[in-house]
Amino acid sequence: MEGRILAFILLCLVPHVGAITVEIPKPKPYESARGGNVTLPCTFIPSKPNPATVTISWSVRGLEPESEEDQFLTYYYPDASIDTTSTYGGRVAVDVDVPKGKANLMISALTLNENKIFKCAVQIRGDVNGKTSDTTRLVVLVAPSTPICNIQGTAEYGQNINLTCKSEEGSPSPTYKWESRDVQNMPRVPDPKTTDKDGILSLYNISKDTSGYFICTSANKIRSATCNITLSVMPPSMNVASTAGIIAGVVIALIILFIVIYCCCCRKKKNEEEYAMGVHEEFHDKEPEKTSGGQRSNGAAGDRSDQHEVKSERDHDNRRGYDDPHSDYDDRRSDYDDRRRDHDGRRRDHDDQRRDYDDRRSDYDDRRSDYSDRRSDYDDRRSDYNDRRDRYDDRRDRYDDDRRHDRDEDRPPVPANKPPRRD
Ligand SMILES: *[C@@H]1O[C@H](CO)[C@@H](O)[C@H](O)[C@H]1NC(C)=O
Ligand SMILES: *[C@@H]1O[C@H](CO)[C@@H](O)[C@H](O)[C@H]1NC(C)=O
Ligand SMILES: *[C@@H]1O[C@H](CO)[C@@H](O)[C@H](O)[C@H]1NC(C)=O
Ligand SMILES: *[C@@H]1O[C@H](CO)[C@@H](O)[C@H](O)[C@H]1NC(C)=O
Repeated sequence: MEGRILAFILLCLVPHVGAITVEIPKPKPYESARGGNVTLPCTFIPSKPNPATVTISWSVRGLEPESEEDQFLTYYYPDASIDTTSTYGGRVAVDVDVPKGKANLMISALTLNENKIFKCAVQIRGDVNGKTSDTTRLVVLVAPSTPICNIQGTAEYGQNINLTCKSEEGSPSPTYKWESRDVQNMPRVPDPKTTDKDGILSLYNISKDTSGYFICTSANKIRSATCNITLSVMPPSMNVASTAGIIAGVVIALIILFIVIYCCCCRKKKNEEEYAMGVHEEFHDKEPEKTSGGQRSNGAAGDRSDQHEVKSERDHDNRRGYDDPHSDYDDRRSDYDDRRRDHDGRRRDHDDQRRDYDDRRSDYDDRRSDYSDRRSDYDDRRSDYNDRRDRYDDRRDRYDDDRRHDRDEDRPPVPANKPPRRD
C-alpha cells in the first residue's frame, strides 16, 4: 500500500525533472533611489546540471502593456562574452555564475528611464521546457518636488472653488493630502461636502468661514513636501476687479462733474466779459443815430442788459450833445424819422405791441415839439456855449463817474437832462 502511494508521488514529480526554471526572487517590485545602484537577482535551475552552453539575456519594456521589449544585454557561457546595446550605455553589468545558477543584473546611477519592467531569460540547448524567463518591476524612487498650490475659481461667497496641488516630479507618484486651518491657524474639520482627490480639494458654496489656511502635503515613500494657500473669501461686490471698477467709475464721474462745472463757470465768465466789452465798444464806436434813450426806455424789453445799453447810449448822446448840440439835434431828428419807419415795420411784426408803439409815437411827437423848443433854447444858449464849455467838461467827468456808479448798482439810469420816464 505504501509502495503504491510512493510510486504515484514519483510519477507526479517525473514530468518536472526535465524542465528548466528561471526565477527573479522576491521582493517585487525592486526599489532604488534615483542616482543609486541596484542589483536585480535572477536564478535558474537547468533540467540537467552543468550545461555546456548557456545564453543569459536581460531585456526591458515600458509599463504600458503594448510597449516593445528591448533586449539590451546578452551573456554567453562559457566564453563569458557580453553584448550590450547603447540603451543604458556603460551603466549595466551582469554577475553570472552558471554552475550556481546565478544571472544577476547590476545597474548603476539609476535614472527614471529605468523605471520599467525587466526580464531575465536563460537559454540552454535542449532545455526548452519549463519556465525560461521571469520578470520584475524596478521602481526608481524620486522624492516629490515642492508642490505648487493654486486656486481655481473665484473666492467669493456662494462659489465653488478648487484648490489644486501638484508636484512636478516624484516617483512613485506622490499622494496629496489637504489640511485646513482657520484664520487663527487652528486645525479644523472641513465641510462634509468637501472632496480631496488627486490633489484637488473641491470646496462648495464657500463663505466667510471658509477663509483660512490650506496646506497641501505631497508625499511618497522617499519624502514629503508641502505648499500652502491663504484663502480669503470676499463678498461678491468686494473683489478686486469690481472694487477697481467702482473706484474708476467714481473718478470718471468726478472728472466729468469737474469739466461740466468748469465749462459753466467759463461760459458765465466769458458772457460777462463779452457783455462788458460790448458796453465798452458801444460807448466808443456806436453812432448816436442808432438809438435814443427815450425810445429805448419805453421799449417792451425790460431786462437789465437792455437797460444797461440804454443808459450808456444815453450817456453817449448826452456827451455828444454837449460837444456839438446843433448837428446832434439835426441828426436826431432824421434819426427819429428813420425810427418811425422802423417802428412802422416792426408794428407789422408785433401786432400785440401795436398799442404800445402808438403810445410811443405820440410820445415821439410830443418830444419833437419839445426838441424844437429846446432847439431855439440852444440857439440862445449858443453864445454862452464857449463860456460853459469848461463846465461841460467838468460835468463830463461827473457823468463818467455817475455812469460807473450806475453800472455798479446795476439799476436803470435816469439821465439828468432827460424828462422822467412816463411809463
Ligand atoms: C554604485 O556603483 C558604482 C560602480 O558601479 C560605485 O562606484 C558606486 O560607489 C556605487 N554607489 C553606491 C551608492 O552604491
Ligand atoms: C473643480 O474640479 C472638478 C473636478 O476636477 C471640476 O469638475 C470643476 O469644474 C472644478 N471647478 C473649478 C471651479 O475649477
Ligand atoms: C450656501 O450657503 C448659504 C449659507 O452660507 C445657504 O443659505 C445657501 O442655501 C447655500 N446654498 C447652497 C446651494 O447650498
Ligand atoms: C506657507 O508657505 C510658506 C512658503 O511658501 C512658508 O513660509 C509658511 O511657513 C507656510 N505656512 C504654513 C502654515 O505651512
